[in-house]
Amino acid sequence: MRADPHSYSDLDQARTESLSLELEVDFERRILLGRVRLRFTAPAVGTVDLDSRGLKIHRVVDEEGAGVGFGLDPTDPVLGERLRLELPSPTATLTIDYETGPNATGLMWLKPEQTDGGTHPFLLSQCQAIHARSLMPLQDTPRARITYQATIRVPAFATVVMSAAPGRVEPAGEGWRSFQFEMPQPIPPYLFALAVGELDWRDLGPRCRVYAEPGVVESAAWEFDDVERMLSTAEELFGPYRWDRYDFIVLPPSFPLGGMENPRMTFLTPTLLAGDRSLVGVLAHELAHSWTGNLVTNATNEDFWLNEGWTVWAERRILERLYGEEEAKQQAILGRMGLDRTLARRIEHGACTALTYSQQGLDPDGEFSTVPYEKGFLLITALERAVGRERFDRFVREYIDAFCFQSIDTDTFVDFARLHLDGLNGVDVGEWLHREGVPESAPAFCSDRLDGLIGLAEQGSPVSGADWSTTEKLVYLAHLPDEVDATAVASWLGLDGSANAELRSAWLALAVRTGVDGLEGQLDAFFDRVGRTKLLAPVLAEMGGRADLAALGQAAVARNAARWHSSTRGTLQRIATQFSA
Ligand code: BES
Ligand code: ZN
Repeated sequence: MRADPHSYSDLDQARTESLSLELEVDFERRILLGRVRLRFTAPAVGTVDLDSRGLKIHRVVDEEGAGVGFGLDPTDPVLGERLRLELPSPTATLTIDYETGPNATGLMWLKPEQTDGGTHPFLLSQCQAIHARSLMPLQDTPRARITYQATIRVPAFATVVMSAAPGRVEPAGEGWRSFQFEMPQPIPPYLFALAVGELDWRDLGPRCRVYAEPGVVESAAWEFDDVERMLSTAEELFGPYRWDRYDFIVLPPSFPLGGMENPRMTFLTPTLLAGDRSLVGVLAHELAHSWTGNLVTNATNEDFWLNEGWTVWAERRILERLYGEEEAKQQAILGRMGLDRTLARRIEHGACTALTYSQQGLDPDGEFSTVPYEKGFLLITALERAVGRERFDRFVREYIDAFCFQSIDTDTFVDFARLHLDGLNGVDVGEWLHREGVPESAPAFCSDRLDGLIGLAEQGSPVSGADWSTTEKLVYLAHLPDEVDATAVASWLGLDGSANAELRSAWLALAVRTGVDGLEGQLDAFFDRVGRTKLLAPVLAEMGGRADLAALGQAAVARNAARWHSSTRGTLQRIATQFSA
């Protein structure tokens, strides 16, 4: 078995089967005080290595309660610290008392003013790819699937949600409550998740509930009203939903992503609350991960395309069923445009554009791009087209059944596909996986409607586009020439006063690029609110090209760095430092 380049753990030493966690959330000191008990599939003895990052380890004991010697290695900037345990006699469990570090990379401690309510602090986690180790010591590799139970002690104002089934809520001392959870399905550690704050909820159907801050929950419930329909559509396509419930939470704006597929509790950015349900594709994507990613999981981050390529494909199948073929096709075209831009940029910087490559020594956060998403989507679509949809739809279920609750690498997928898809029916999978760029033979998508809009954009003359879909507006914005009057464009598309953050980001990037004056206030407001890397990065990159806005961009990054997730901070700081270079 290939080892995981992003973990110190060695599954031949021991394999964690379940963990049991007791945490106290200390909002004043911004740390978690914890006790974790790891249970192994068989008693382990001798050396056992765990992953950790910034943790303070107080004490380790075996199943007899005997102390276990341990040592923390010096910090590796990508991997954190190896926690090496020496077990004198065989033990099936280890109990570790610890606390998290002040800069835990997987946690975000928000001040009251960074929430909608403004009165209470908020805590949220984001563990993918390798931040779970900053929350607790564990074997932080997707191959070590675990079930877990947790008891979380929090101040009385707070409600806790996790990627697990909720259990009892009990008083836990004056001014405190404790929340219990049980996760019966085995998950890779990157799907461990926790959010703590003042929360309310609405039921959207028998299996779905939305959580959000009290002032946000109504609009969240309205925006995602389609979720039960999405869930049953996904089951028709991909087989039974195996996680019992599908609940989700709309977080404060610092959340770094569009969405994160934490099982039983998808995490979403509030920038999806456009007021017109135009950004629900992200929810379809995270829901689709319940099959592709969460049931069948990438073995390491080198196989990340298996998670995301499959999920983009699955997302578009759901969207096609619910909103029609034209919408799904348009999203594929928009995706291809983004991919081509990313490919050009990565090739210019000498970065790899293969679907899978060695990530030894590389930071998964730094390797993130649209390549595994959109090139992965194209490969899956190439296979679908090679054998026909009917055959492929049966294959999808065979694949999910064969590997559900397992973590597999790219070769395992390819071998399975070769066996079940008639020798891959002419698709050169090796070329897709290992060569740069996109094969000439890649599936193409065409939409007469988008061709028309692209023609209009290239002319740059006035249009009446207020009624166009978000996808159509995004395609149009991406094809406008540098000479266009971006202020006029905003009114042609009805963007003034629109709450659609995707469009806001695309328009701001255009406005900066085309030299609009007087953007300072709007840019500051955007940077001071949004936390989603995908929306911030393109605007910041354009600001670097404007002598009058570069310093403003750098100041916005400095001002907001502490509020952003470690991965967002890293990405934006990298862009901002390149300004002066
Ligand atoms: N699992 C990803 C988010 C992720 C990837 C977090 C890698 C950390 C490391 C999630 O499913 C995702 O892809 N989110 C996208 C949604 C989009 C593709 C619809 C996002 O946040 O933009
Ligand atoms: Zn995804």
